[in-house]
Amino acid sequence: MQAKTAVVVGAQWGDEGKGKIVDVLSENFSVVARYAGGHNAGHTVIIGGQKFILQLIPCGILRPDCQAVIGNGIVLDPIAFLREVGKLRDLGVNVDKQVFVSNRAQVILPYHRMIELAAESAPGRQKIGTTSRGIGPAYEDKMARNGLRVVDMLNSNLLKTHIQNACHEKNAIAHALFGTEPLNPAQIYEEYVKAAEQLAPFVTDTAYLLNQAIRDGKSVMFEGAQGTMLDIDHGTYPFVTSSSATAGGAITGTGVGPTAIGTVIGVTKAYVTRVGEGPFPTELHGPEGEDLRARGHEFGAVTGRPRRCGWLDLPLLRYSNMVNGTEWLVVTKMDVLDSLAEIPVCVGYEIDGKRVDTMPADVRGLESIKPILTTLKGWQEPTEQIREYDKLPKAAQEYLRFLEKESGARIGMVSTGPDRDQTMALPDFAQALKSLEA
Ligand code: IMP
Repeated sequence: MQAKTAVVVGAQWGDEGKGKIVDVLSENFSVVARYAGGHNAGHTVIIGGQKFILQLIPCGILRPDCQAVIGNGIVLDPIAFLREVGKLRDLGVNVDKQVFVSNRAQVILPYHRMIELAAESAPGRQKIGTTSRGIGPAYEDKMARNGLRVVDMLNSNLLKTHIQNACHEKNAIAHALFGTEPLNPAQIYEEYVKAAEQLAPFVTDTAYLLNQAIRDGKSVMFEGAQGTMLDIDHGTYPFVTSSSATAGGAITGTGVGPTAIGTVIGVTKAYVTRVGEGPFPTELHGPEGEDLRARGHEFGAVTGRPRRCGWLDLPLLRYSNMVNGTEWLVVTKMDVLDSLAEIPVCVGYEIDGKRVDTMPADVRGLESIKPILTTLKGWQEPTEQIREYDKLPKAAQEYLRFLEKESGARIGMVSTGPDRDQTMALPDFAQALKSLEA
């Protein structure tokens, strides 16, 4: 590790337990920055039995001295942000002068949700199974150079004109295409001009803040949201989110250069889950999938939807490690596999009778994958109470070694439960983290 920075990225379809891992790792960091997505993310952290679900504010905020930055790559729903700030304050968490919002982040407005809700259920449209937070339409406006940035929201004249013009256009589109009732721009303005006042103290140029922190020798973590396979470029398009969830997003989504990234840490479950529509090669449809869902409490943190479950997919993990440049892997939810006598793992794909070791780009290819499975021995012992890697059952260590060998990245940490202390770091990773401390 050179620069004192690390990107923490989800290696699969999100929900890998990044929230908990970022929280554990943030002990070693002075600043934690989110770089993509919005309040579609739901990071669950449990501290001393108390559960926090953070959607927008980086998990670093739960450490008293850690600064939390919302980067320019985010789409920010100001109402959701202020609600989250309020909840954190109620829990006694200090947010003032600790949370910083990029002035260049894009703003989600009510018509983004309106368009998304209407479009998702419209006949003839590809259903993605989104979180209905207006994420996609907000990124569409950003790329169409038609969005509202946080800095512009703070200017009440600009805010008013933007809402008026946008409502004029969006109401007409939503009505013509989906028969939706129009939104009232005056009402939206009233609500958002008040929100802007409360948002203003948090707003700054976070690119300068982050680059200065790096120059000052502070350690900075870039917290990914969603996961590699939901990335707009590298994921299972079109069943993806609308942002750059992979490690590259940390650059464009915060305003630091690629040479400032010290290392990349991928977080992977010991098996795989996915929420929403789209291909999933190792999905289990029967009782085995239900069993993983029940043991792993696999229900969406944001929408409560049951997550689809399947066996570990090593070609997917290899692909993910490649596009992220992952150096270290953190394996979560090992305890969910505790009771199994045998654990199937996907080691390759068969498509149209041919063995393929790479990730196909097209959905048809992805859907016709037959996973080639190998079976590893289970350990059939509880691991929840184990705190040292060497004390894990032999078969669990073998499972991890196999995962490491096949995926091409080093295992740095293993998690066997939701609490902060149900985590064990391997010595080399612990050493590497120590060298990051500012
Ligand atoms: P959107 O991000 O709301 O546009 O949803 C697009 C796809 O990404 C849907 O399949 C969602 O279920 C999925 N998605 C978005 N955020 C998350 C997350 O934090 N975890 C898991 N899946 C997510």
